[in-house]
Amino acid sequence: MTSNADARHTILVGVDGSDSARRAACWGAREARRRGAVLSLVHVCYIPDTLPRYPAPPKERFDEAMVEAGESTLSEAKDAALAEAPDIQVETYVHIGPVAATLVAESKNARLVVLGSRGLGGFAGLLVGSVGVTLAAHGACPVVVVPKDGDGRETPADVGLGDVDGAGCVVVGIDGSRRSDPAVEFAFDAASQRGVPLVAVHVWNQATIDTDWPELSIATSHEAEGQLESLVASERLAGWREKYPDVEVTVRVRRGRPAEMLLEEAGREEAPAELIVVGSRGRGPLLGLGLGSVSQKVLHHAGVPVAIVRSGAQA
Ligand SMILES: Nc1ncnc2c1ncn2[C@@H]1O[C@H](COP(=O)(O)OP(=O)(O)OP(=O)(O)O)[C@@H](O)[C@H]1O
Ligand SMILES: [Mg+2]
Repeated sequence: MTSNADARHTILVGVDGSDSARRAACWGAREARRRGAVLSLVHVCYIPDTLPRYPAPPKERFDEAMVEAGESTLSEAKDAALAEAPDIQVETYVHIGPVAATLVAESKNARLVVLGSRGLGGFAGLLVGSVGVTLAAHGACPVVVVPKDGDGRETPADVGLGDVDGAGCVVVGIDGSRRSDPAVEFAFDAASQRGVPLVAVHVWNQATIDTDWPELSIATSHEAEGQLESLVASERLAGWREKYPDVEVTVRVRRGRPAEMLLEEAGREEAPAELIVVGSRGRGPLLGLGLGSVSQKVLHHAGVPVAIVRSGAQA
């Protein structure tokens, strides 16, 4: 990115001309306004090395045409973003290269990457496309995936952009390990910026206890286990409560399947989530994978924007 804007002040949106990406640009515009950040709209053209010989034009002309098409896609997205937040600074960039890898590289120059859940391609059956999943797993900064409108996954929050006029909340999933700390910090900051409460959800079940704290397995009742889990959750929040005294925090400890419980808490009618925040990895055993199973499920089934915050990738 050739930009004067400091990475800490740049919100990058990936734009491919889809309706989903336009919604991502609108969400990014609101976020840029909230944070006084620059909105950087990026389109990546993937131009294969080998083009069909006939009747394709010479490669240079083909490249030119792709870049021109990208510029016009970006200009539409810019109009949509400025209609949402007229006073923000918007920059546009066309890059040439493999799409996900280029956006992963560009994420180093941003404080936040925003993408639509789907793009122009892909299988209709998938809820989140490959670019969204790759960035969530490998992006250098937190990634927000904005859901498609009318996916049939309605929540009480305004479907899609997640704005509920200050009546909502930010929901963060904490698994009791340090790995969710960056997600917790991101969530406190997001709640503080929006002036809404933070709901920290800690879900536990026998499997998490057996795996991580064998000594807790001897607890005699679910009630006793639940109390211990509450302590674990509170400990993870302690420092952040002091740093963000303006944020009203509720801790909810649930027993069951983590992704299901998180989505249930996010969909509460009285205080629907505007944003769900999860870490990219939890305490699961498959450390080689970029995205844990709970994060994946939340990403694929949430009806509101989801922020994925990797350990070591802080806003
Ligand atoms: N060429 C691109 N340039 C910039 N951003 C892109 C590009 N392609 C996708 N994106 C971003 O990623 C989001 C998700 O698109 P993605 O490509 O993952 O889904 P898809 O096209 O439905 O599926 P797939 O490409 O995996 O077949 C888009 O809404 C957009 O924000
Ligand atoms: Mg695509």
